[in-house]
Amino acid sequence: MTTLHLPLDRSSGHPIHRQIYDGLRRAILEARLSPGQRVPSTRALAEDLGVSRLPVLTAYDQLLHEGYLEGRTGSGTFVSAAIPDDLLTPPQPPEARAPARRVRRATPAAPRPRDEGGLGPFRISLPALDRFPHAIWSRLVARRARTLRPGDMGYGDPAGLVALRVAVAEHLRAARAVRCEVEQVLIVSGSQAAARLAATVLLRPGDRVATEEPGSPLIRAALGAEGADVVPIPVDEEGMSVAALQRRGGRVRAAYVTPSHQYPLGTSMTAARRLALLDWAHREGAWLLEDDYDSEYRYVSRPLGALQGMDAHERVIYIGTFSKVLFPALRVGYLVVPATLRQRFVDARETFDLFSPTLYQLVLADFLREGHFARHLRRMRGVYRARRDALLSGLARHCADRLSVTNADAGLHLAALLEDGLDDRDVVRRMAARELTATPLSSCYAGGSGRSGLLLGFGGSTERRLLEATRVLGQVLER
Ligand SMILES: Cc1ncc(COP(=O)(O)O)c(C=O)c1O
Repeated sequence: MTTLHLPLDRSSGHPIHRQIYDGLRRAILEARLSPGQRVPSTRALAEDLGVSRLPVLTAYDQLLHEGYLEGRTGSGTFVSAAIPDDLLTPPQPPEARAPARRVRRATPAAPRPRDEGGLGPFRISLPALDRFPHAIWSRLVARRARTLRPGDMGYGDPAGLVALRVAVAEHLRAARAVRCEVEQVLIVSGSQAAARLAATVLLRPGDRVATEEPGSPLIRAALGAEGADVVPIPVDEEGMSVAALQRRGGRVRAAYVTPSHQYPLGTSMTAARRLALLDWAHREGAWLLEDDYDSEYRYVSRPLGALQGMDAHERVIYIGTFSKVLFPALRVGYLVVPATLRQRFVDARETFDLFSPTLYQLVLADFLREGHFARHLRRMRGVYRARRDALLSGLARHCADRLSVTNADAGLHLAALLEDGLDDRDVVRRMAARELTATPLSSCYAGGSGRSGLLLGFGGSTERRLLEATRVLGQVLER
């Protein structure tokens, strides 16, 4: 068993659990503790340090939560085997870099950012595909493929596989405070498909549907696809403006909102605004389409529960997706609909594409039921926080005088406003010439002119690539 040198300074004013956490984390990052290595039990370490077990447990919990440590039932706690090289040699300014005692491979020259088929740095809506648990996933796929029964190979339930609906309902109740029965859950091909389905069921040609301004152009297109009139309603720092919604006058049948993490600006809808919106929907007999596309990742405080869970009058249609928490090519998302609407949604879904592929629904149900999903989410929170921090520090270092970040508390991307006079579409064109992908903020506005800014994804790139990409972005902005 390793003896760890973790000097504690009781007079420093820093909580003991934080000092233990920092010391262990540093030991892992500097490779004094290597991936797969067993760490002392909490009891042994507490004894060693002459402290109670509580601060040690707190530190271990945090490190487990962030994916630095992993527990193996019955055999103890280990340094995570999956710590990537770019974490082991954390990107820091050269003057601040401590000599690492051991690195797992020679550090290559800083890679040139390339947009590898849309996977380049800053690409929005991409999760960390490099950290996907391929070994577990392929084992589950192979197992299900081998044991597929004739009943799994015919026509499936248009509402989705029951086992997957049960697992999704349990997850949503526990993690998002969604109030639902399994019957209210429908499995669909992603949240884009969910929005389109909701438009088919709830809107007639000429009906008005409110969308957030700025908002997702793809979702706007889905909501307006069958002739509904899309009405952009401005978003302020609290969320969609209910006052502006009321000022529009006339009947608005539905409003589409992203309360957990406003797309694209990144704010979270306040509790007061949520209540005002629910009240509006109740009074008007309107529907609220809640798109909870990446709420699992929040870095500053506990996420507020879903709007759906606060709704006493069954006005909310809740939409979620596995695209950000697993991978977009999976094409699996879900809806939670009021019981009174269920049959209409199921019937409409059947007219689209009948049902979602059974094999992947079976695999996904196993993935959730066996705890892999919860573990993956816990690990990824730490990964994304580190990536976000790398992006923020790169922007502060190379681009601070040209752009300002609006909000980076959650999700896999952030929005940054460009200084006056810089046109975002022009900047994005110049970035493309340097093989950087970004999305102009102005493209998210339905009405005429929008604010000039950049949407910068950080989920899909390592910290090293993000830092290098911000250096190149700094050069692009200088010209
Ligand atoms: C706000 C928002 N909703 C929905 C989607 C689509 O997600 P899905 O892959 O589940 O269709 C995206 C895609 O990035 C998005 O940004």
